[in-house]
Amino acid sequence: MSVDFKTSETKENLMRAFAGESQARNRYTFAAEVAHRQKQKTVEELFTFTADQERAHAKVFYDLLQEFSGENIEISSAAYPINISENLEDLLNFAKHNEYEEANDVYLKFSQKAQEEGFQKVAYAFTEIAKVEQIHCDRFEKLAELLKSNQLYTATSPSVWICVNCGYIFEGTNAPLKCPVCMYEQGYFLPVDLISCKDFIKGKK
Ligand SMILES: [Fe+2]
Ligand SMILES: [Fe+2]
Repeated sequence: MSVDFKTSETKENLMRAFAGESQARNRYTFAAEVAHRQKQKTVEELFTFTADQERAHAKVFYDLLQEFSGENIEISSAAYPINISENLEDLLNFAKHNEYEEANDVYLKFSQKAQEEGFQKVAYAFTEIAKVEQIHCDRFEKLAELLKSNQLYTATSPSVWICVNCGYIFEGTNAPLKCPVCMYEQGYFLPVDLISCKDFIKGKK
């Protein structure tokens, strides 16, 4: 089936996705501010890093609506989350949940609809971005678990941490309370196991 883009559901879905990504970016920026106040650098970095990616997703969807530039797009229904908390574990779990929904439900449906309506390029964007959202989900989940089990700075067997400020490597069962090189607080130590998520320790301040 090929549908006129102007009257398509895909046009509305792109607008829903643009709004959702834009809001996710803001929510993660607000969460990063909470983490910053609590001197939890690793959590702050993860939220900031992911917020930048949501902006990139928003741009992909926005650009696909280019032919409507100068117009308004009305969406018939949409719902967006409110996730306000000073508790970092809660904020990570909220984020995990939202990413899961995008990856496993919303974007898959949007992709399928775009496919049905004959918009291959849009279908592809939804499918590929859904995969990224699953990675976001996994990363938030992992950090939430580490915080919950108190394993972000302690381990039962010798482990390795890196100070994300200066790069100092520490081996032991407890990350130092302060980095012996740059004197930054424990909140800057990241378990090296998380280096598979190395994208968020890429040296950004
Ligand atoms: Fe996204
Ligand atoms: Fe995401």
